Amino acid sequence: MSELVRTQPAMEELQALSQRLEGQTPQEVLAYALDQYFPSIVLACSFGPEDVVLWDMMYQVNPKASLFYLDTDFLFKETHDVRQRMIAKYLLAPDQLIEVKPDLSPEQQAEKFGDDLWLRQPDQCCNMRKVEPLTRILKNYSAWVTGIRRDQAPTRTNTKLVEWDGKFELVKFNPLAAWTNDDVWAYIKAHDVPYNVLHDQNYPSIGCTHCTVQVKPGEDPRSGRWQNSEKTECGLHK
Ligand code: ADX
Repeated sequence: MSELVRTQPAMEELQALSQRLEGQTPQEVLAYALDQYFPSIVLACSFGPEDVVLWDMMYQVNPKASLFYLDTDFLFKETHDVRQRMIAKYLLAPDQLIEVKPDLSPEQQAEKFGDDLWLRQPDQCCNMRKVEPLTRILKNYSAWVTGIRRDQAPTRTNTKLVEWDGKFELVKFNPLAAWTNDDVWAYIKAHDVPYNVLHDQNYPSIGCTHCTVQVKPGEDPRSGRWQNSEKTECGLHK
């Protein structure tokens, strides 16, 4: 795919659009997004609950839409299982469900930066294994769709339904911004959407194997991510 030249829409226009979309259903937001940007739009799918919901919705609007996942080489087996179940359910070809890999294999990373980089320099590890590959894939699109929600974290309370992503320089749709965790799970159950079985075992938020642990009932759902550090975001979302 050749790199796109992307023009930033006027800030005021995007803000007005986001306001207009406020109160509409995620399906309506996705229908608008696909209508405006397909085929230059893609869903970022971690196979978390929000992303499987978004994919199910996108598929209903346009079964030819595409999605990618950042395979850090440190994903749980159960995460790969969801991917396989989605491939079977939605008949996804490799050019529709795109695998994005880091430049360095785990072995090359260890050789260059030492063992267990995620323990010593988690930001550097996230940068190489997630942010850099994300930057690479997003260069091919004018808009991306993510599963972030306002009530997930203080860093996410100002999430707009649509915004300019200044870090990756393209339009960003967050159709579930106003949804709660309960809304997400109600959709999964009602539509029989494949989901990660680890969510039934006290892993509400799942990233890489080395940096994700179980949480106790009642604990902040994101507290199992980077548990022994101050870190709360991996750098995909500002
Ligand atoms: S993170 O920044 O802490 O890792 P989180 O797990 O909450 O993010 O996921 C938020 C959104 O980021 C997801 O809904 C998805 O759109 C995107 N995302 C996170 N991890 C990945 C991944 N491995 N591949 C693709 N998209 C991802």
